[in-house]
Amino acid sequence: MTGEDLKELANRAVAEIGAAADEAALEAARVKYLGRKGALNEATKGIAKLPAAEKPGYGAALNEAKGRIEAALDERGAALRAKSLDRDLGAEREDMTLPPRRVRVGRLHPISQTVREVSRIFGSLGFETVEGPEIEWDYYAFEALNIPAGHPAREKWQTLWISNPLGDDPSRPLLGRPHTSPMQVRVMEKRKPPIRVVIPGRCYRYEATDAIRESIFFQYEGLAIDEKLTMADLKGTLYAFARQVFGSDRKIRFRIDYFPFTEPSAEIAFDCFACEGRDPECHVCGGDGWIEAAGCGMVHPDVLRRVGYDPSRYQGFAFGGGIERLAMLRTGAPDIRLFYQNDLRYLEQF
Ligand code: PHE
Repeated sequence: MTGEDLKELANRAVAEIGAAADEAALEAARVKYLGRKGALNEATKGIAKLPAAEKPGYGAALNEAKGRIEAALDERGAALRAKSLDRDLGAEREDMTLPPRRVRVGRLHPISQTVREVSRIFGSLGFETVEGPEIEWDYYAFEALNIPAGHPAREKWQTLWISNPLGDDPSRPLLGRPHTSPMQVRVMEKRKPPIRVVIPGRCYRYEATDAIRESIFFQYEGLAIDEKLTMADLKGTLYAFARQVFGSDRKIRFRIDYFPFTEPSAEIAFDCFACEGRDPECHVCGGDGWIEAAGCGMVHPDVLRRVGYDPSRYQGFAFGGGIERLAMLRTGAPDIRLFYQNDLRYLEQF
């Protein structure tokens, strides 16, 4: 081979590389010319047989040929990569004419909304919101509230008992709290008067479900303890609450009731905001004109004594009602089960 032959070889290689249609063809050309057994390596071996005077010229021609081939490979490689990138981008391009996907914005469940509303209203009356355990000791749910084992009042709270994971000690029965009243005791044990708290929370009862009852539901509990609280404070507080929830011309009705942990005890009803007692077929109050909303009363002296308060110095009131009941009244829901079927078509309305 001569220097001229090498120039020829490089010309052919550059032409072939320039015509490579894809990366595989380009790689084949690289192997053919620059590979271990490629044309340029073969040509290099020939240098040994040349006369000494021709060796430098031949060496220079070799270097030049190699340089040209490498440059051609680089150039064609870059061009092919740019082409395939263009192709991919073209194929993946977004269709800007498509309508946008709808964004679904979440919101609070109507029960959560009602819990917050209750907290907000009692907050404006000076009550702090606290929460407590849903799994409760028999002691807090009943014993400390003047309802010892065997007391007939236990019938009123259809209880879901839980086997005690701490060794199943039958002297310390556990339950899903059937009301939020155990928190009265827990709060009083931890604090000194004055106390003003409201406790919203989930409760459990062994009960068949119907339009107004669920076995898992929410209550709100209120407790106020101070040195000079009377039944008038209880009435005023619930009156203010009723008017904030159902409008400024609400009336409330107190009727005597019985709870072992309050004395005296009462049941509160709001006058019907829908018919104001004028529609005998009202779908909200059933024609009664009143909507029963909560139980309440003055905290029993024995309950105070049990937490170490002196009943001759401290008195207070407590009340407790159903959150779903309020939510049904606020939203006009005809059936409590609508809140828990998780049908977005229903829930999205609120
Ligand atoms: N805990 C009672 C119930 O579930 C309601 C209540 C609360 C009554 C506080 C009096 C005082 O029926």
